[in-house]
Amino acid sequence: VLRSVVTGVGGYLPDEVVTNNDLAKIVDTSDEWIVERTGIHQRHRAAEGQLVSDLAVEAAKRALAAAGKTPADIDLIVVATTTPDLTFPATATIVQRKLGCPVGIAFDVQAVCSGFVYALSTADGFVARGRSKCALVIGAETMTRLMDWTDRGTCVLFGDGAGAVVLEPQEGEGTTADRGLLGFALRADGTKQDLLYVDGGVSTGKVGHLRMQGNQVFRHAVVNISEAIFAAATDAGIEIADVDWFIPHQANQRILEGVARRVGIEEGKVISTVAEHANTSAASIPLAWAKGVDEGLIKPGQVLLLEAMGGGLTWGACVLRL
Ligand code: ACO
Repeated sequence: VLRSVVTGVGGYLPDEVVTNNDLAKIVDTSDEWIVERTGIHQRHRAAEGQLVSDLAVEAAKRALAAAGKTPADIDLIVVATTTPDLTFPATATIVQRKLGCPVGIAFDVQAVCSGFVYALSTADGFVARGRSKCALVIGAETMTRLMDWTDRGTCVLFGDGAGAVVLEPQEGEGTTADRGLLGFALRADGTKQDLLYVDGGVSTGKVGHLRMQGNQVFRHAVVNISEAIFAAATDAGIEIADVDWFIPHQANQRILEGVARRVGIEEGKVISTVAEHANTSAASIPLAWAKGVDEGLIKPGQVLLLEAMGGGLTWGACVLRL
């Protein structure tokens, strides 16, 4: 049985750090309110002229180095982003050009904060069928460029960054003891659009800003994500107790603690970066994963559980063994 195995991970954050106190100078908010309601202390912001493809390229370079691969090895690039450089071409082909990868497959996936889980599942469809020998799956976002800086309910929540993984095929027995992507559950419910969306796009003729009914999103988050986690665990053939590290999408500390409690994951197994990174949408899972690896927490052979929810609404979960 061919499986897609993650052989390297890398994250990149732009240099500029924006603290809660910095934001309190432009909107009516406070460090105390933001920390208490979200767990966020700061976020990173891309420099003027620094594009989402630039963040993606830096994360990809680190993932390639970790996997012992070069751009010449890459035959598939999937970028999850909701903030592309341009309407077209896809950010994935821009990353391909900037990295100097050979002609291959490259395209973007748009599932907002759930983008990385969707992109991983999409790439698995190529790698585990022998159609890609070495793939880059990247989550990259410049969410700060989508903010309405007069809306304190949203502008304090998001940050910029990118994370990437390298996926390679590997033969195994087809048991859960094998390395690789073991199970997925992906969901979307378009009737919940009004809870979280951008009020503009090419077809509407305006750029638009992110709009959110935060408390409504919160209400759906824990229930929806928990169901997807149980479905992904069943798809993978593992028990929740088998999970070594839980790497949730980093939206809000209260959501990720709520999910961990509901599905029965101990606090010590949760990777949380929301305090330092805030919500980087599709980039948040690979960024948190890279940090867990850098800190020596996440090791080969371990079982990881990923989950996310975002605009759409979309949500999903993935179980894999490193
Ligand atoms: N500073 C101070 N006060 C604020 C701020 C702020 N930055 N933002 C909102 N408030 C005020 C509101 O105006 C409201 O005041 P009012 O009672 O006088 O009208 C009050 O705080 C309460 O507002 P709520 O929206 O009900 O506050 P809540 O406790 O729900 O917290 C929050 C808001 C943090 C947005 C929370 O709902 C949340 O995190 N929701 C999840 C949203 C999310 O993470 N979305 C990301 C994408 S989806 C995902 O990734 C899961």
